Amino acid sequence: MVPYLHILLTLCNMSKQTRYVTTPIYYVNDRPHIGHVYTTTLCDVYARAMRDLGHDVFFLTGTDEHGVKVEQSAIDKGMSPQELADQNSAEFKSIMGMFDLTNDAFIRTTDLEHTRQVQVFVTKLLERGDVYLGTFEGWYDEGQEEYHTETSARDLEYKSPISGKPLVRATEKNYYFKLSAYQERLEQLFKTNPDFVQPSSRRNEVLGRLREGLQDVPISRTNFSWGIPMPGDEEHVIYVWIDALFNYITALGLGDPTSDWYKERSNYWPASYHVIGKEILWFHSVIWPAVLMALEYPLPSCVYAHSFWISEGRKMSKSLGNFIDLETIETYVAEYGMDAWRYYLTTQGPLGATDADFANEKFKEIYNAHLVNTVGNSTSRVTAMIVKYYDGVVPTESDGDTRLEIAEFDWPAKCKEAVTQWETAMESFSIAKAIEQGMQLIRDVDLFINDTAPFKLAKDDTKQAELGAILYQCLETLRIATLLLSPVLPMKMKEFHVAIGTSLCSENLIEVADWGLLKPGTTVTKVALFPRV
Ligand code: MSP
Repeated sequence: MVPYLHILLTLCNMSKQTRYVTTPIYYVNDRPHIGHVYTTTLCDVYARAMRDLGHDVFFLTGTDEHGVKVEQSAIDKGMSPQELADQNSAEFKSIMGMFDLTNDAFIRTTDLEHTRQVQVFVTKLLERGDVYLGTFEGWYDEGQEEYHTETSARDLEYKSPISGKPLVRATEKNYYFKLSAYQERLEQLFKTNPDFVQPSSRRNEVLGRLREGLQDVPISRTNFSWGIPMPGDEEHVIYVWIDALFNYITALGLGDPTSDWYKERSNYWPASYHVIGKEILWFHSVIWPAVLMALEYPLPSCVYAHSFWISEGRKMSKSLGNFIDLETIETYVAEYGMDAWRYYLTTQGPLGATDADFANEKFKEIYNAHLVNTVGNSTSRVTAMIVKYYDGVVPTESDGDTRLEIAEFDWPAKCKEAVTQWETAMESFSIAKAIEQGMQLIRDVDLFINDTAPFKLAKDDTKQAELGAILYQCLETLRIATLLLSPVLPMKMKEFHVAIGTSLCSENLIEVADWGLLKPGTTVTKVALFPRV
């Protein structure tokens, strides 16, 4: 018996598909804010949904710890760069627990496993001639740690597009990556794989810039020391962006096949989604694929570049007092709850091509309309009626052998369709659209209750079978709808499932969301999930 079971389990695991989702790794010279929490929460919802669908998921986040900015901040604070990195990386790591984020690993670019592998990869690039020593003359954005050629600096009016500070003139001997050699292959990539960059408007931006022609990019610096030494030339440290991009494969141990990371994680490459903000798209959609091409690794399936949060109608800024930092986030979580915070971020956020406004009034409005009046109201109304009319015991849907079909609501078909749409939307990272599938089912339950008026039927002895069927259908639909909402509202949906005596799915959502799995006779208690604020 036991050996067969083992074979069966192995077969099940073999049939599992992998999903690898990553956030950018965050700079440790900044403190966590809504931008970081947003990207990580999107990835978390995706990762939870993929686990629910039975996929083998690896969700990676972490911190980007080298570079001149960290070195400078550390000097200003009278600390060593490592001490500053340890302190701030720990703060980023702590938000994973605080926001219920289910990352499978947290990489730091100062991890020895990472630095060693980066040197292995750069050595390979040197050996292949994809990295060479040359002289750079151009412009440098110190805040973004980004180089600009004369043409692109002119377009930017010699100012950083992010901080507005002047670009500085830079002439230095550097190691270069031969990006220009990958022009044709990159153009081909964008042509044959139109979904490589999402949303499509972002793809067009990259294509436009790509067509202007690629120049080789410097990948080493000599004017500071807080970085990974260039193999064979310790006067240079590896440019922080090259160091950082490698995290996506060093975390899987690809540069060290003898490592535990390799044994446990290498099967996750290539990534399903690199989720990033729009400001770092060029690195991810052009430089990173070219480096992977040079190393002959398969490319990620998609780079998803979301837009930015602004706040109360204006760009977030500390001096304007509209900055959504960790302390501000905590006040929202304390007032509305963690699930409500996650819901607002993922349904109202800038996943598309335009920036989104974080506004206190809008938060309250969405909370009341979507969570209190829709999810909260429907779940409480249905459980309350079952408690009142059936002493909390789930009635049966059928009258003898015949299933009662009421009005035009074909619930099994409606639910099946919602589950299918949800799966498609989640797989394509359309997070808000996926969540909407669960919300729409709940709104339909409300309409159904208004149409069929079970509270009136309850007063008529001849209508008891009909009443039972209606309430069964309502609760069963809510059970399925809340499965679809659980990646975004994990705590509240769990509370609901405990109250209705079922369990949230762990690995087989499609089966668990099948119509009719709610057993008549199950005991239900009344719920109040979202208190009015
Ligand atoms: N360290 C680099 C990324 C290297 S990845 C190989 C970096 N770090 S960062 O700390 O500046 O974080 C940038 C990310 O934070 C953005 O890509 C985005 O995910 C998030 N956001 C920062 N500000 C944001 C908003 N105002 N709105 C939404 N997200 C933004 O760049």
